[in-house]
Amino acid sequence: MIKIGNITLPDFPLLLAPMEDVSDPPFRVVCKDNGADLLYTEFISSEGLIRDAIKARRKLDIFDEERPVGIQIFGGDEERMAMAARIVDVTNPDLLDINFGCPIKGIVNRGAGAGVLKDIDLMVRLTEACVKSTRLPVTVKTRLGWDDATKNIEEVAERLQDAGIQALAIHGRTRCQLYKGEADWSLIAKVKNNPRIHIPIFGNGDINTPQKALEYKNRYGVDGIMVGRAAIGYPWIFREIKHYVQTGGMLPAPTLAERVAVSRKQLRRSVAWKGPKAGIYSMRRQYLYYFKGLPGFAELRQRLVTAITIEEAESVLDEILIKYEGFEMVQEPIVLKDYHENCAL
Ligand SMILES: Cc1cc2nc3c(=O)[nH]c(=O)nc-3n(C[C@H](O)[C@H](O)[C@H](O)COP(=O)(O)O)c2cc1C
Repeated sequence: MIKIGNITLPDFPLLLAPMEDVSDPPFRVVCKDNGADLLYTEFISSEGLIRDAIKARRKLDIFDEERPVGIQIFGGDEERMAMAARIVDVTNPDLLDINFGCPIKGIVNRGAGAGVLKDIDLMVRLTEACVKSTRLPVTVKTRLGWDDATKNIEEVAERLQDAGIQALAIHGRTRCQLYKGEADWSLIAKVKNNPRIHIPIFGNGDINTPQKALEYKNRYGVDGIMVGRAAIGYPWIFREIKHYVQTGGMLPAPTLAERVAVSRKQLRRSVAWKGPKAGIYSMRRQYLYYFKGLPGFAELRQRLVTAITIEEAESVLDEILIKYEGFEMVQEPIVLKDYHENCAL
């Protein structure tokens, strides 16, 4: 068992990574249904929360069925972070997570996200401000360091633990690497093996198969794994990893009926939570992954991603079931995209 404050997680828990515009309640629920043990919201700006921006407040929505769930915030000002932590506290998630890893230029330049990796004293003060302002367990997600010359995660881990955090998730890249190259988990292992460190250490970066998850578990000794991109449109990755770690065997690929049922659930939840337009829109990029590998799917996919009402989208889902009845889905490789390649980084 792994403990974070009073949250109890199973051995070697699997975490759904916080992902902007992706890790919303409908997506989190389907990941939970399929084996994710701990979920996070996308990052929420402390400034936005304080100004009560409607969008920021909406991101605080959590539902009992997804617990345990953490709310992630970011910011570069101690007082504002303390205020944001108090706001989060009253919305009653299971934990508060601080983002010290976001590489986006606009955030880094404001001294937040991965920008804080350049100033560990500030990172500690921001963390302490949050720890003091909430009764929730506080956790942190960060990267190895700012750049190749300053991979300071070992010092960061010790100092944040001393500041009172109760778990640390580490993405095995530096800020300057963005998403380039391969995530390097060897420094994550060093943090884990540091005898001073007693909080759970979660590894993150590039996990896209059950085999890789088990290999990294054994090689790097982390307490659990956080999965991001591989879960988009493929929430089954969690149960597949779990099964493989426990038995060494691969689960069969989800059937077509399961893919339709789960995408339908996510679609309905999205529409219920965000309203018809935004709900349907947010599902569009996920269908590609849900139905990857279906031969002759271009026309139906085009109709799915251009549907403008839920009835239209659901009737395409019905058609998929009919057209591909009896079709045996096979495991398709999960290709991890560089999501930030077009972002202002
Ligand atoms: C679309 C997208 C949005 C992201 N948004 C956040 C975020 O809000 N907070 C955060 O800490 N990390 C964010 N990340 C980083 C992921 O949490 C994760 O660290 C990264 O994708 C590496 O894990 P993976 O290789 O399993 O995807 C985001 C990543 C993606 C792809």
